Amino acid sequence: MADNAAAWGLPGVLDFFASERDSAAKVYPSEWFFLRQHLREGVSVLDVGCAQGGFAAVLGESLSAFTYTGVDISAAMVARARERHPGHRFLTVPEGDLSPLGGETFDLVLVLGILHLHEAWRDTLAAAWARTGGAMVFDLRETEGPSIEDKDRARFTMAFGGDGAEYERTVLPYNLINASEALAESRRLCAGAARLSRFGYLHAPSAAARLPVDAVLTETWCAER
Ligand SMILES: C[S@@+](CC[C@H](N)C(=O)[O-])C[C@H]1O[C@@H](n2cnc3c(N)ncnc32)[C@H](O)[C@@H]1O
Repeated sequence: MADNAAAWGLPGVLDFFASERDSAAKVYPSEWFFLRQHLREGVSVLDVGCAQGGFAAVLGESLSAFTYTGVDISAAMVARARERHPGHRFLTVPEGDLSPLGGETFDLVLVLGILHLHEAWRDTLAAAWARTGGAMVFDLRETEGPSIEDKDRARFTMAFGGDGAEYERTVLPYNLINASEALAESRRLCAGAARLSRFGYLHAPSAAARLPVDAVLTETWCAER
């Protein structure tokens, strides 16, 4: 949806991501738990929702040879990623649609920090799995209660990116998925996975989230062929 891309392209949001998630020290323990198992020289990596390509730097801390392709719905993020990581490939893609990659597959696919923040997350996950040759690491936000996928009831504001009404008013959906449903959907959307693993922790919602619950399970998943 064009609105979501515009939200990520707000100047304060672009500036925020200039210094976020660009070193292994800024990768969450649950993500690292899976990621490190799939780091080997020569690995090909697709990063869906790459922002400014921070994971290229993360991978570069552990590997000397790898290929990294970052895709993002925000052309502004992609422009900054290209400036920061000229040796890697970046593409702007429509939401939930990885067809610009053609039939290419990758050893390792990352889908981090985006599935809870857009409506078409099931399409994005299925498309990412179709391009996974080895393993896909992704994350969901879960709850023990009923799923909520309704921007009026659960949303994420861009208030973290800047002060002022425009940032508070610019909202994305915040998809809270019932934990059993998350398992069922992950199995369905990663059809044929030989192994599906999860590693999560319960915590208070982020300050930018407006949610009707007082705790969220941030769950990192790994689906393997
Ligand atoms: C919260 S950041 C996550 C960045 C990075 N993946 C990480 O985990 O730190 C969200 C980024 O994903 C992009 N994005 C959001 N939804 C997307 C989608 N459906 N497909 C591709 N990119 C998306 C946004 O434009 C933004 O640059």
